Amino acid sequence: MCGIVAYIGFRPVLPVLQDGLKRLEYMGYDSSGIGLLDSGRLRIFKAPGKIRELEKKLENEEIKGNLGICHTRWATHGEPNEANAHPHLSAGGKIAVVHNGIIENYAVLKKKLLAEGISFASETDTEVVAHWIAKFYKGNLSQAVLKALEHVEGAFGIAVICEDEPDVLIGAKRGSPLVLGVGENESFLTSDVSTIVGHTQKIVYLEDNDVVTVSRAGFEVKNIRDKTVSREIQEVDNDFELVQKGDFPHFMLKEIFEQPEAIKNCIRGRLLLNDGNAKLAGLDKSLKELRSIDRIIITACGTSYYAAMVGEYLIEEWAGIPVEVEYASEFRYRNPIIGSNTLVFTISQSGETADTLAALKEAQNKGATVLSICNVVGSTIARTSNGGVYLHVGPEIGIASTKAFNAQVTVLSLIALLLGRQRRLSSVQGMEIVQAINSLPAAVEQALKLNDEILEIAKVYYKHTNFLYLGRHFHYPVAMEGALKLKEISYIHAEGYPAAEVKHGPIALIDANMPVVIVAPKDALFDKIVSNAREIKARGGKLIVVTTADSAPLDEFADHIIKVPSVNSALMPVITSIPLQLLAYHIAVLCGNDVDQPRNLTKSVMVE
Ligand code: G6P
Repeated sequence: MCGIVAYIGFRPVLPVLQDGLKRLEYMGYDSSGIGLLDSGRLRIFKAPGKIRELEKKLENEEIKGNLGICHTRWATHGEPNEANAHPHLSAGGKIAVVHNGIIENYAVLKKKLLAEGISFASETDTEVVAHWIAKFYKGNLSQAVLKALEHVEGAFGIAVICEDEPDVLIGAKRGSPLVLGVGENESFLTSDVSTIVGHTQKIVYLEDNDVVTVSRAGFEVKNIRDKTVSREIQEVDNDFELVQKGDFPHFMLKEIFEQPEAIKNCIRGRLLLNDGNAKLAGLDKSLKELRSIDRIIITACGTSYYAAMVGEYLIEEWAGIPVEVEYASEFRYRNPIIGSNTLVFTISQSGETADTLAALKEAQNKGATVLSICNVVGSTIARTSNGGVYLHVGPEIGIASTKAFNAQVTVLSLIALLLGRQRRLSSVQGMEIVQAINSLPAAVEQALKLNDEILEIAKVYYKHTNFLYLGRHFHYPVAMEGALKLKEISYIHAEGYPAAEVKHGPIALIDANMPVVIVAPKDALFDKIVSNAREIKARGGKLIVVTTADSAPLDEFADHIIKVPSVNSALMPVITSIPLQLLAYHIAVLCGNDVDQPRNLTKSVMVE
């Protein structure tokens, strides 16, 4: 997604911004740019494509200055070319703006500017903001930004500099994240706290409609009505500094292999062995309320949505509470019915997904308590929720989510256990579940040993153009997630389906060119899915089966059998998802794709 880093201080600004761009890279982008004051002159450098294209343009530059802004762009308005890359300049070239989000009334604002004779250099919504600020500029940048934003509708996080004010950096936000990092005689603005924690761990989370004026000496935050507001400086951890690929060729593979450790971290201190229960500090305040809920809605996007689907089955199975799972983008506009005993969960790895945040606010607006499952500590969704549970799996850098998915499912199992123990699970049943959850890291470790085997299967199929992924019950969401993984990084069309539903249409697609991945561990529905597998085989499909020991009769007719270890059947998604992650990874590598930053995708979608 678009990313912002801005700096004011005493250091040479260019290396600070270049470092910032590299740290933003993991989010996914399609062009980048830098704007800075060089010996008092505003200069802009932009390039489509990867950051190395921008670096080439900067190779022979000797910049003298310590104020600047930079941006990675993920195209929304206009294609990813140089003209549309940020920063954007005002007419006259004195004011430069970088922007995340979408200006919804940009067409109206642009029309007015065109009528005033202003000409445009790009197709972006952002350029309107630069011109609009210049329209109000009378020697005070902060005032001009405040006045301009009164006219702007939509979501934004912006950073602004002006050639005539070499000692001022302005930031503003509404609906898009922007944080201030406060150092000694220097400050940073960024949309992603991980980009600056190497410089300072003193962070101010700006709130919607804040406009911050930053100088080398300090900062002042005003609200949109020009009133000074106080914002607390918080200390954050610097765990992002540790993130390296190590011996792995890609972050994604590293994160797949990190899962045993990630799940250990996720469950550490949260299992009560003797009580057969879970202890989740973030839900402590809500425990009484949780006892009286009779319906749960879980809302999320992407991989988090598939984790939510597993959560639906887990909670219904163990706690007997009806659960509905809904895409956040649908939930937010659907006028959802939320009763007084309805609890809403949102799930978001990044904690910044725009649709999930909007769904959260919509639910709160309708009176619901909203609890969230997030990975990024201090993220907007985590801060806006009424409580919640962190994953504690460390930063996830690969755009295709892997360890976060399994940690989300693990956290959902803890929540299902806790809700179950308040209702129908006995302490003995609870103890069994606690042991099963505790066994997950070792079972994941075992499943990862299938890596070489899966690479060989990938070699057979990486040139195919379509895949089907099938599963039933707990493994239907796993099939959906497996198909999503393949699409995201290999660009091969893949569909996830409930296995029995294939008869109602997709079976028409089956022929010898259609690899079908079936997730069929030995569980209560094993015989049923074996029948579904036979139906595929009878039509010539190629069968790749993920199963467990004792998988006869599948062994007789499947083209490939992948045997994962067995755990409690409700927790099996954590295990069966592993081969699917590895299969997608190896196919993508064999296709020669950029696995960590697949085309068109972004780590966190901050626009709707
Ligand atoms: C993007 C990412 C996905 C992620 C989804 C939801 O599409 O590429 O990997 O699952 O957003 O993100 P969240 O941070 O809310 O879990």
